[in-house]
Amino acid sequence: MIDEIKTKAIKEGVPIIKDEGLAFLLNYISEHHCKQILELGTAVGYSAICMAKLSKDIHIDTIEKDPDMYEQALKNIRENDLQDQISLFFMPIEDFVSAKHYDLIFVDAAKAQYGKYTEQFLDNLSEDGAMIYDNMIFHGLVYDIDHITSRSLKSLVKKIVKFSEMVHNDERFDIMDFDNIGDGILVLTRRKSGT
Ligand SMILES: C[S@@+](CC[C@H](N)C(=O)[O-])C[C@H]1O[C@@H](n2cnc3c(N)ncnc32)[C@H](O)[C@@H]1O
Repeated sequence: MIDEIKTKAIKEGVPIIKDEGLAFLLNYISEHHCKQILELGTAVGYSAICMAKLSKDIHIDTIEKDPDMYEQALKNIRENDLQDQISLFFMPIEDFVSAKHYDLIFVDAAKAQYGKYTEQFLDNLSEDGAMIYDNMIFHGLVYDIDHITSRSLKSLVKKIVKFSEMVHNDERFDIMDFDNIGDGILVLTRRKSGT
């Protein structure tokens, strides 16, 4: 059933996480025993469903603002009988407020807003939690900015690079880059004092 969601999404041009990135994400969740997860950007629910299927004690809050994506995600979550494990919020991420602490925040929505999302949700990250960001190499374009002709695309790719530089230079964080996995993955954790 999950394969059908993936096939349909790819056919309809819905941007979902690549296989390699997904494998990394699922492995991270298992290895770090992440139970409470926040996902920014649901699309049709593909990554949320894959994460939920790892274990019955995983719970995911996932946010989507596009009505068509939301409806499809709702249907997919129900058909997989995962409504107890996945809470789907139909709203802009900017409006989402929670007092919860998450073991993992998977950031997969508007790439230009990654810096903003980091600040917005930092207080929701548990002490040993991680934020994982997808599309950090943006189809390889971060290596070839000078050759991008579209002004809006160039501006977006520059924002991704700027975000990466910003978090690398931020003393609050430890950063791990996995540029060779999927579309590029960045893992952010809190730096422990004294390290
Ligand atoms: C890359 S897709 C998510 C893919 C999904 N995580 C997966 O791998 O199956 C990004 C989604 O984020 C949503 N999105 C972008 N900006 C948003 C915002 N500000 N608030 C809520 N959703 C947003 C888009 O509508 C889109 O469906």
